[in-house]
Amino acid sequence: MISLNGKRILLLVSGGIAAYKSPDVVRRLRDAGAEVRVIMTPSATEFITPLTLQAVSGHAVRCDLFDPTAEAAMGHIELARWGDAVVTAPATADFLARLRLGQANDLATAVCLVSAAPVLVAPAMNQQMWQHPATAENLAALTARGVIICGPGSGSQACGEVGPGRMAEADEIVSAVARIFATGRLAGRRVLITAGPTREPIDPVRYISNHSSGKMGYALAIAAHEAGALVTLVSGPTVQTKPEGVTVKSVETAAEMYSAVMQELETTEIFVGTAAVADYRPEFASAGKIKRDGSALELRLVPNRDILAAVAASANAPFTVGFAAETDNLIANAESKLQRKKLDMIAANLVGGHEIGFNSDDNELTVLWPGSSKVLERAPKLRLARSLLEVIVERFESRNSGSN
Ligand SMILES: Cc1cc2nc3c(=O)[nH]c(=O)nc-3n(C[C@H](O)[C@H](O)[C@H](O)COP(=O)(O)O)c2cc1C
Repeated sequence: MISLNGKRILLLVSGGIAAYKSPDVVRRLRDAGAEVRVIMTPSATEFITPLTLQAVSGHAVRCDLFDPTAEAAMGHIELARWGDAVVTAPATADFLARLRLGQANDLATAVCLVSAAPVLVAPAMNQQMWQHPATAENLAALTARGVIICGPGSGSQACGEVGPGRMAEADEIVSAVARIFATGRLAGRRVLITAGPTREPIDPVRYISNHSSGKMGYALAIAAHEAGALVTLVSGPTVQTKPEGVTVKSVETAAEMYSAVMQELETTEIFVGTAAVADYRPEFASAGKIKRDGSALELRLVPNRDILAAVAASANAPFTVGFAAETDNLIANAESKLQRKKLDMIAANLVGGHEIGFNSDDNELTVLWPGSSKVLERAPKLRLARSLLEVIVERFESRNSGSN
């Protein structure tokens, strides 16, 4: 159960269609123990009444910067100082643009500029607006400034279109707010994890894949979330349950996984590649189902791009951790992968047996980094993930402090 006990949250509501969901955000923040005060932009009042938000928050709602009565009591400066965090849900494209520019021409943006508290935004807009380069630039600038972006999700939209731009669910927003106050060793750090297998299509009904279950990656995502990180999990097809508080991006092919990882890379501080990415894919996927005709069938395979090597070689590469799933010569192969791909760390595990590795509940790992190694004894994958994360954090912190 997420606790925001005693935390004071300023919730800003801007004028998007998702404003109808903001009372639920208030309710869930309060359920988690937070005190919530709401500010609405004038546009937001076109979508939902201040009275509704007053009722669910238990406090008067402010909409107007130039309100003589309010400015005499809890004025905008006091209000900004009051908040332990400033959360905007939904955040319109226009609001994000104003925030990026440092405008203060309405109460909501003025409060953002006055407040020294962490700022989280949950964007919600039409998918074209979201994908417009202007919005992408605003988001990148805000992220670089430390603003936390929660969501958006993808799916059908109020305007009838389908795509990214749906406001994150209320419980995701509450988890993201809780992350702000988490005191774990990875508090506020951005961790990107890949998990599961990929599927490389042969025709519309057949594919090449492997036995990876995704258990290890999902366990690591849970452990990183517990340590306070903001975790994104890029997952191939698995039956694993979405971990609470973790952003999951589902992909099928190695090429899709590559793109999803590259999209997240700029803000990633730690990358852990646990996914069993197909090294090869069929050169051509048949558009129609291939029929049996009794003769031999040849599939020509071409190599996929190497996600791990690309991450490690990127400009401002994150602390990059790879996995080596091997059937023999475990340590020698892992050592060579560590050096060849210029990784910061590699976790090696034996696969091929039934007791550990792919698809099993237990695993054991040998973790190698330049100059040293550590054996993590056989344990259930979540316990092992927590131990591995401790090793990662130690190396990550020592790299950041400049010591080796
Ligand atoms: C029916 C309707 C729905 C809208 N939905 C959204 C939306 O979901 N996201 C968004 O960014 N803008 C949306 N807009 C546009 C914003 O309301 C407009 O840009 C406004 O100036 C935002 O003001 P604010 O950022 O001060 O709240 C919508 C406008 C209308 C008329």
